[in-house]
Amino acid sequence: MSRPVLIDTDPGCDDAVALLATLEHDALEVVELTTVHGNASVDDTTRNARAILEAVDRTDVPVARGADRPLLVDLDTSEEIHGEGGLRGDLPDPGPATEPGDVHAARRIVEQARAHDGDLALAAIGPLTNVALAHAMEPALPELLDDLLVMGGAAFTSGNVTPLAEANFHSDPHAARRVVRDCEPTIVGLDVTARAAVPPERIAGLTRDAPLGRALSEWLTYYDADRLERYGIDAAAIHDALVLAELIDDGVLETASYPMEVGTDGDLARGALVVDENGVTGDAATGEVAVEADYERYRELMSASLERVLERVGAELSG
Ligand code: BDR
Ligand code: CA
Repeated sequence: MSRPVLIDTDPGCDDAVALLATLEHDALEVVELTTVHGNASVDDTTRNARAILEAVDRTDVPVARGADRPLLVDLDTSEEIHGEGGLRGDLPDPGPATEPGDVHAARRIVEQARAHDGDLALAAIGPLTNVALAHAMEPALPELLDDLLVMGGAAFTSGNVTPLAEANFHSDPHAARRVVRDCEPTIVGLDVTARAAVPPERIAGLTRDAPLGRALSEWLTYYDADRLERYGIDAAAIHDALVLAELIDDGVLETASYPMEVGTDGDLARGALVVDENGVTGDAATGEVAVEADYERYRELMSASLERVLERVGAELSG
C-alpha cells in the first residue's frame, strides 16, 4: 500500500528532482503539492510545480498556491542558484489542467491532514511559511500527521546562506522557529543533505536527448564551478530529494532527538538551528534531527525512479 504524502515545495532544481522521483515511486501517493515563496516568487514556484506535473503527465495531482512572502522578514529568492524563474531547464508553460484551486496552501495542509486521519506524511522542502500558518490555524496539526519531515537547518555544520543558517530557515526564520518548537519535526538539514549529490557517472546514465531528460540533467548539475569548489564536492547537492527518499524507505536516515530552537533576530542568529546537544537547557526534546544517511541507498532509490519516469515519458512521447 502506498503512503500518502503532501509536498510543500518551492521548485527549485533540487525540489524538481525530488518531485520527479517521488511522483514515480509506488511507495508514495502524492495527494497534493502546495507551493511557497523561496527559490523564486510564489508565482514562479507555482508555475514550476505545475510545469513539472505536466511534464510527467501527473495532472491528477492538485496544486495549491501558498504564501508569497515570509511571516515577518522581507522576501529573498535564489534565482542566481536555481536559474531564471527559479528553475533551470526549459519546460513548457503549464496549461489549464494544473490550475491551482482557490484555497490557500496552508488551509489545504490542514484539510488534507484531517482527511487522512493520522496517516499523512508532510514533506516540507521550502521555507516553512505555509506549515507555520497551517499550525496557527490548527494547533493539533502534529497529532493529525503521521510524520513531518523538513529540509532545513544546519544543526552541527555550517550554513549555506550565512555561517550559521541554511536557506529555508534563513528565508523565514519565524516560521522555522514555530515549526521547530511546536510541530515535532524530523529535521533533515545540511548535515546530511550537503552530501546528497548524484555523482557525475550516474548523471550521465540519466541523461536523455528528450525534453525531460535534458531538463533533469540541468537540475542535477545546478551548482556552478565556484559552488562545487566551495563545498568540495563533484556534483550539486540534491537536498530535497533526501527527505523524500527517507519517506520511501525509512532506513535512509539516522536521527537523534534533541531540544532545538531557531534564531530569528540579528544578522548572525537569523535562521540558525540551535541544538542543545548537551542538554544544558534541561528542556524536553522538540523533535529529531538527521545525523547520518545511507547515500548508496539514496542514490539507488533516486536513480531507479528517475530512470523509470524518463522511460515512461520518453515512451509516451515516441509512442
Ligand atoms: C534548500 O534551499 C533551497 O535552495 C533548496 O531547494 C533546498 O530546499 C537548501 O538549503
Ligand atoms: Ca526547496
